Amino acid sequence: MLFDVVLTPAEIDHLPEQDLASTVCIVFDVLRATSSMVTGLAHGVEEIRPVCTIEEALALRGEWPGAVLGGERFGDRIEGFDLGNSPQEYCREGLRRVVTTTTNGTVALRACEGAREVWTGALLNMAALEERLRQTAPERITLVCAGTFRELALEDALAAGMLVSAFPEAQLTDAARLARAIYLEHRDHIPAALRLAKNGQALLAHGRGGDVEWCARVSRFPVVGLMREGVVRKG
Ligand code: MLT
Repeated sequence: MLFDVVLTPAEIDHLPEQDLASTVCIVFDVLRATSSMVTGLAHGVEEIRPVCTIEEALALRGEWPGAVLGGERFGDRIEGFDLGNSPQEYCREGLRRVVTTTTNGTVALRACEGAREVWTGALLNMAALEERLRQTAPERITLVCAGTFRELALEDALAAGMLVSAFPEAQLTDAARLARAIYLEHRDHIPAALRLAKNGQALLAHGRGGDVEWCARVSRFPVVGLMREGVVRKG
């Protein structure tokens, strides 16, 4: 088992050029896209379509029966959409089909479309990720840190490093070692680390501290989202 970690959006831009056919990609956007997806899948959402643009999402509202639109730009709900990107919005009773577009998380997921498998990773489903990796034991795993705008996101690297640290026997690239070091630095104060992160600071400044606390919870939901043909479902 070999872990690699993609740390920045600039690297993500080049993923579609790579041969990922033998690689399992696990995408982390802890604040908040993949945390919201994992929360939704744990509360009855059956299908999630991550798209890169608002226009794609609006077009799907008409084409995909029963779909609601969610996501954010600059952290806020997009005008005309049904949901923002706060995880607890995805606990709503009766949600089944969601189309979502966010600044980094949905872009990162779509960039991995050529991978053997694409999973949604978060702190919220860490134990489920570990269990699925032990069950399936893929040779190559790339942990994709979605980032924030064009920068590395501390919380994504921390979560990736937490997963790496659960497999001391695995081979690691230098980027994986770096992610693990970030996790080891912050493992005893994860909520504080998320509040320290740029994304966490922005959410706190906009009164969304509850989102940060929610996303900081570890192994709360035993679900892994798998994206196939552009649709994320429970694995
Ligand atoms: C992202 O995709 O960059 C994040 O999910 C942004 C957010 O939720 O505010």
